[in-house]
This record gives sequence, structure tokens and C-alpha cells, in this order.
Amino acid sequence: MSWELAGASLKLIMAGMEPVKDAPLSKHGYWRVGGPADLLVDVHDEHMLAAVMDTDLPVTVLGNGSNLLVADAGIRGIVVRLKGNFRALAFRDPKQASGLSDTLSSPMGIALVGAGTMNTVLLHKLDALEIGGLGCLAGVPGTVGGAIRMNAGTRLGEIGDKVAFVRVVLPNGSTQTLTPEDIDFRYRRATLPEGAIVTRVGLWVSREVYDTEKAQIQEHLGYRKGSQPLDQPSCGSTFKNPDGDAAGRLIDAAGLKGTRVGGAQISEKHANFFINTGNATAMDLYTLIKTARDTVRERFDVVLEPEVHAVGDWPEGAWPL
Ligand code: EPU
Repeated sequence: MSWELAGASLKLIMAGMEPVKDAPLSKHGYWRVGGPADLLVDVHDEHMLAAVMDTDLPVTVLGNGSNLLVADAGIRGIVVRLKGNFRALAFRDPKQASGLSDTLSSPMGIALVGAGTMNTVLLHKLDALEIGGLGCLAGVPGTVGGAIRMNAGTRLGEIGDKVAFVRVVLPNGSTQTLTPEDIDFRYRRATLPEGAIVTRVGLWVSREVYDTEKAQIQEHLGYRKGSQPLDQPSCGSTFKNPDGDAAGRLIDAAGLKGTRVGGAQISEKHANFFINTGNATAMDLYTLIKTARDTVRERFDVVLEPEVHAVGDWPEGAWPL
């Protein structure tokens, strides 16, 4: 381990963390590929996060790894998983004088959600409290922070439309609270300050929509189960949909369903799902992604943009595609 990494590691330990060196990331991502992180660390609160930022090493937030393609050479610097306080849930309820509450009594309020919370966990907790409003996250893998970063959504809507505020930590360690006006939410994209890490999010929720939304969620999850290969390792949609069309339709129409590169394969069930059949490398997936993009461009003159994010040490010039 270099002196720089050893120094950073010590700093993290002094701040109460337990960094793991050369941690294999293939255990964490949905695609189950990728090399090691120099240091992998679980961060429980803003104090710990400030210590991570203070090391001067590059910081990558892993989220749940559900939309990341980690390079075979791994990720240099510190890879962070947000846990502890970053998975807390509370409500700002207009009926509560104190402001914060464990649930929502009013028809509408704001859910204060830690960015490391899994979307599925959040939806289960809201369901148990009979609170609706976030049906747009149904079936979306990953964390709330990741969902904000890419304005995740489904046919039930987009998370950007639900945002009351987004709290971030900046690379200099300071915190900032952004309002929806500060963020440009577009289709699968959100403009956040360079290097910002989302730590907590305020999302509008409602009791009134609970019943109707629950039925829509059931219907939507059934649709996904029928049309997407949810039982195989993938990162969901590989490409964003181009304007007025669907990436899955185009890749399918190009005759690419079932195409393989090494252990990576374009799903027979849904052409925008790229699967690790068991022994894929990140490079296999990269080659398959590039092949699909090049073929669709040649056949239909449409340039597909990846929805998945490549992170880590890729060969020079690999990205953007
Ligand atoms: N299609 C094909 N062949 C295929 C796959 C799809 O012709 O192999 C056609 C379908 O028949 C349909 C169109 O393409 O006419 C769109 O397909 P689908 O309804 O499956 O939805 P999608 O646009 O591929 C989007 C989201 C999904 C989300 C579903 C359902 C994007 C990039 N993807 O998929 O989100 O689950 O709608 O709401 O917007 C994700 O982002 O990871 C994700 C899974």
C-alpha cells in the first residue's frame, strides 16, 4: 500500500471507520464484475464523510452498485457506502409542532430520507405507514441518492418531480441544501454541483394517493416481471431511451437479442437488459454495449446514450463510447 493510501487509511480509522483495502467490488455491483477498490469504507454520518473528503484521495460513492459498470482494474482511491444515519427516515409533518415525526398525520408532508436508503426499503416502509407519493421508485433498484443523481423513474413518473430539497456534501467538505430550482432534472439526468455527494433528500409524500398508487405499483411490478429478466444479474436498462423511441425496441429490431461477448449477453427477454451469464468481465460488457450502440447507429442512425455509469480505471479512450 502506498504512503498516501496508508495515511488516508489511518485518518479513516481515527474517525471511527474500518476501511478495507483492495476490496473486491464484484461482490457489490448488480453486474457482479469489476476489480478492487483501493479502500472501501462504510460511512455512517456527515462527520465521517467529512473525514473521507479530507483525505484528498478521489472518492466514489458506490450506492447499491445497481447502475455502475466497475472497470476490471477496479477503482483508485476511496469507495464509500452510505450507511447508519444515511439510511434514516423521518417526516416533516405540518400537523406536528416540533416539525419532525416518525410518521405522517397530515394529508401531505415531506419524507426526510437518507441517501443510502434502498429505494425498495423506502417503499416498504412507506407502504407499512400507508403513505404514498413515491410510486415512481417502484421496482427501481439502488439507493435514493443514486435515484436523485440520475433522476430515476418509470412510467409512473420521475423522482425529480417529488423533490423538496437535496442535501449534499461538496468536495471541500462543506454542506449545501439545494432546492428543486437549483437542480435541472431532465430525463435520467440531474445537474448537481461537481463532485457533490447526496446525503439526504426531502421528498413530497401524501396519504391521499396511497390507495390508487398502490394499485398502479402492483400493475407496474407485474409488467416488469413479465417483460424484464429480473432473475439474472443486470443493471436494468443499459441505455437511456432516445427521444420518441425505446432503446430496447431498437436493439431488438437490429437483431441483437441473445448476442454474446464472453460471459455477457443481451437478454432474450428484453433487449435493453445486458446480462452477466456467470463469468463476464467488465470488458465483455463494455464490448457488448459498444457493439449494440454501433449496430443501432449503423442500422437506424440513432445514437444511444448509456444509462449505466462507468467508474474506475478503464483503458484510455474507452469512455465516452
Ligand atoms: N421492446 C421491444 N423489444 C425488447 C424490449 C422492448 O420491442 O426486447 C419495446 C416494447 O415492446 C415497448 C418499448 O420497447 O414498445 C419499451 O419497452 P418497455 O415497455 O419494456 O420499457 P423501456 O422503455 O424499455 C422503461 C424504463 C425501465 C422501466 C420500464 C417500465 C428507461 C431507459 N427504462 O423501460 O427502467 O422499468 O420503462 O416502467 O427509461 C431502468 O431504468 O433501469 C429501468 C428498468
